Amino acid sequence: ELRGVVAVDGPSGTGKSTVARRLAAGFGAEYLDTGAMYRAVTLAVLRSAVDLADVDAIVEVAERAELVSGTDPERPTVHLGVEDVAEEIRGPEVTAAVSAVSAVPGVRELLVRHQRRIIDAAVARTGGIVVEGRDIGTTVAPDAGLKVFLTASAEARALRRAAQDSAAGRDASVDVTLADVQRRDRLDSSRAVSPLRRAEDAVEVDTTELDVAGVLRELTALVERRG
Ligand code: C5P
Repeated sequence: ELRGVVAVDGPSGTGKSTVARRLAAGFGAEYLDTGAMYRAVTLAVLRSAVDLADVDAIVEVAERAELVSGTDPERPTVHLGVEDVAEEIRGPEVTAAVSAVSAVPGVRELLVRHQRRIIDAAVARTGGIVVEGRDIGTTVAPDAGLKVFLTASAEARALRRAAQDSAAGRDASVDVTLADVQRRDRLDSSRAVSPLRRAEDAVEVDTTELDVAGVLRELTALVERRG
């Protein structure tokens, strides 16, 4: 049984989303993709055409964005108001801007509050939730019962991202994807407010040599061991 919060953090291209989602589904728990929330706010910011250097304007757009995140692992959803933006938030414009928007402290405060509300509701409703992101174990849910930090070589992560993009019909060269993965790692790890880093009590799983089924097996064993 999966009780309470399982935090799954790590850089992009570690298979985080797929594995976190299947882990939640396998245990009948809920699932929250916090990256999708930062992406949706970024989409709202891009649409509003505010200057990416205007921090106050960005926070204002985030506050007005009416972000709604569904937590069913079989069908995770993200809406701005009534508009389903699940597809659009994976596009290159959002991917290029999301690290800048997610580095804004006011945006993080807002989304962390929002995430904690969603987590509390899920735990009260279902008993457990798998939450994936960059700062779940360190900031959003520091008391999580299990914290996992997924890693993989930059090359392995770029290959996975490129394969994912091309499967979804998006343009994807491995070189460009590798450069993007490395750029986002650098930005996400060096920002002042809750940078990407492993929580001290997180279990690190290197996925370079593992497929999705292999990672899922390891995490399932960790959940069963920790409860
Ligand atoms: O996981 P995904 O690649 O969709 O996340 C997109 C971006 O959102 C990350 O590169 C990072 O800048 C930001 N993010 C974050 N904190 C989280 C989740 C995502 O800053 N908890």
